[in-house]
Amino acid sequence: MLLLFYFLADPKPKRIVVAIDGPAGAGKSTLAKRVAGRLGLTYIDTGAMYRAAALWALRQNVGWDDMHRMEQLAIAADIELSPGRIQLNGEDITEAIRTPQVSSGASKVAVIPGVRRAMVAKQRAMGERASVVMEGRDIGTVVFPNADVKIFLDADPQERVRRRLRESRARGEDVSEGGLAEQMKERDQRDSTRADAPLAQAPDAIYLDSTRLTEEEVEEAVLKIVRSRVTNGKDFS
Ligand code: DC
Repeated sequence: MLLLFYFLADPKPKRIVVAIDGPAGAGKSTLAKRVAGRLGLTYIDTGAMYRAAALWALRQNVGWDDMHRMEQLAIAADIELSPGRIQLNGEDITEAIRTPQVSSGASKVAVIPGVRRAMVAKQRAMGERASVVMEGRDIGTVVFPNADVKIFLDADPQERVRRRLRESRARGEDVSEGGLAEQMKERDQRDSTRADAPLAQAPDAIYLDSTRLTEEEVEEAVLKIVRSRVTNGKDFS
């Protein structure tokens, strides 16, 4: 509805990209899903794509340091994202990619430049087909440096661990807070220090700290930014 007005007002409708980057547990997925739902845009979880590559590597016994095979596998991976689900080569892997082993593996395969090239190509193709809210680590810096809106979503490390712990326990996993904190610290460290496309705030991204905000407050703050950037302040509704 809100974008309909924008599209009707413009004879050559432009595709919109909202980029959301930040560390694990900052609330990117929740925010990106909500914003996409409110604006009628396509939600793309790029972390799930690296997770899919890691899951395939685990199943094929490809070592994380086998850069050549990992790149081939990332190129060959047929990844389909649909609301709330992900398929790899025709198989639904939505639940299979949420294990601690796949989380850590995704961060390891994401270091490999050839894997990143393959994933970035797939992500750009998705952004060319539709208006998207895309979340990840390098969306505003590398995948879509000209994104209409760039958000860098952050939260205190302790709060990020608490959120992930709640999610894991809701899935029935038996995880300790200390163990999870250690895994997340290791993953954030690797994601922020790798040579190729590390997690970083784009110079023109808006920094948002979600530590003391509700999901609704974060959503409203971002919708306000999108409205002002994309429609020059015109209201969508
Ligand atoms: O968002 P997530 O926790 O599901 O991502 C899993 C891993 O994938 C993360 O530790 C780093 C990597 N990743 C990346 O390097 N670039 C992205 N755009 C998204 C995720």
